[in-house]
Amino acid sequence: MSAKPSLDRETLKDILIEFLLTRRSIRRYKKEPVSMELIKRILDVARFAPSAGNRQPWVFIVVADPEIKARLAKIHRWAYPLEEAPMGIVVACNKDTSPDSYMVDCANATMYIMLAAHALGLGTVWIQTLRNVEDIQKILNLPSSYIPVALLAIGYPDESPAPKPRKSLEEIAYLNMFGNPLK
Ligand SMILES: Cc1cc2nc3c(=O)[nH]c(=O)nc-3n(C[C@H](O)[C@H](O)[C@H](O)COP(=O)(O)O)c2cc1C
Repeated sequence: MSAKPSLDRETLKDILIEFLLTRRSIRRYKKEPVSMELIKRILDVARFAPSAGNRQPWVFIVVADPEIKARLAKIHRWAYPLEEAPMGIVVACNKDTSPDSYMVDCANATMYIMLAAHALGLGTVWIQTLRNVEDIQKILNLPSSYIPVALLAIGYPDESPAPKPRKSLEEIAYLNMFGNPLK
């Protein structure tokens, strides 16, 4: 028998659910840099996100260069968290590799990055890219077949935001058919 006490299954379930419920979008970051080793560890996890036909149409562009980061932080007014964050990550998917599913594939990889970052004590916020695709392609020298589906600011959190309100389950969950209450 191992000398190491293992977490019992019930405790682990609670911890994992708590982990999901405590992720927040973080928009204020400490100056502390994030090591490339940590970023690589996160991206290594993101490779395991599900994708249609396992086509994995994504690429991850880590933005550490302050000038490139500053240009991305100005793509629109809600991109400002990137100014303060030590790094950004762009998740882009090749629309030719997966024409029907590239957006959802990229969204899955993005969520994996956000959750892996959360597990490692880092904060992220998803910054909208889809109205500024060409601007971002130009800034990053991305081929036109690669659509930047998400841009994340990433760094050590310098705020602890309260949870944002959520719709009740009654409002959004049905049984068998739309509108049929889930009781
Ligand atoms: C597709 C998408 C686009 C978003 N765009 C922005 C954005 O441009 N700037 C920003 O500060 N937050 C952005 N967010 C973050 C949302 O505002 C945030 O997820 C939501 O308010 C819920 O808060 P929470 O993530 O803390 O639970 C975006 C989130 C998603 C999924």
